[in-house]
Amino acid sequence: MESRNKTPTDNEVREHIENLRSRGNRGLADLIEMHAFKAQPEKRPNCPLCKDSGYTEWTQEIGGVVYEYAEECICMKQRREMQRLETSNLPDPTRMSLGQFRTDQDWQIRILDTAYRFAGWSPQAADDIPPWFYAGGHPGTGKTHVCTGICCNLIGQGRQVLYRIWNDVAEEMKDKRNTTAYRQTMKRLQEVDVLYLDDFLHGSPSKASLELAWEIVNGRYTNRKQTIFSSEHFIQEIIDKDHGLGGRIHERARGFVLGIARDATRDYRTKGEMA
Ligand SMILES: Nc1ncnc2c1ncn2[C@@H]1O[C@H](COP(=O)(O)OP(=O)(O)OP(=O)(O)O)[C@@H](O)[C@H]1O
Ligand SMILES: [Mg+2]
Ligand SMILES: [Zn+2]
Repeated sequence: MESRNKTPTDNEVREHIENLRSRGNRGLADLIEMHAFKAQPEKRPNCPLCKDSGYTEWTQEIGGVVYEYAEECICMKQRREMQRLETSNLPDPTRMSLGQFRTDQDWQIRILDTAYRFAGWSPQAADDIPPWFYAGGHPGTGKTHVCTGICCNLIGQGRQVLYRIWNDVAEEMKDKRNTTAYRQTMKRLQEVDVLYLDDFLHGSPSKASLELAWEIVNGRYTNRKQTIFSSEHFIQEIIDKDHGLGGRIHERARGFVLGIARDATRDYRTKGEMA
């Protein structure tokens, strides 16, 4: 079996991409195009196996007949993962993994344990509804860290994640009100595989903010789409603000609700100096 892993020239990569396109494999062609030419500045491929073409090819001679084989390179799984990470909008994924979450205190152990249980959840029966995750409570206690870590794990499992800060969503939707763009964005928020809403209902949410939250949350509830929240509010406080909204989150996140006590010594940013 002869390996054909010589470094392809730019033209060869382009030809390869065109070839994939003409064979109807648009998705893969787009991905290869995106990644193959990323290595351009120093002209060094990232993957030594396929030299960033995304495919490994070889020929084999059997009884005088030469067979050509091509298969997707193993790096493509990783490239797709990187692409999902880029499109997730997660602000600091490399620094906020679950592995980097310190557990010096018992309450931190409980947080990490809940996060790993959530990230490791898989359906036992075909109609099992995927759970939600709700991290509420004191500032600087690692809520965003742990939710980001969960999102990274889910991305590694092949899931598509969208990270949004609640106030950005509220602003955007206010600007788009009464336009077709509102429906498009709403559809994405209601249907994306996993949505992580950070700083959910920040401050004292207005009636409009609560109505927007209900529209998104109810859509995801009906569509059975996984949703992750971090918020300064405890889940009970969301229920008190809007029973229908908080009730839905509470129901879906059963077993994965964190309420981190309001205690200044727990603030990782000030390392308890404010206590
Ligand atoms: N247990 C921990 N191990 C390592 N780093 C942590 C831990 N807890 C918090 N941090 C770090 O402290 C900083 C603040 O944490 P984070 O942003 O997750 O807090 P938060 O609970 O989301 O706060 P806020 O309510 O203000 O949004 C981050 O840089 C985070 O990585
Ligand atoms: Mg936060
Ligand atoms: Zn490769």
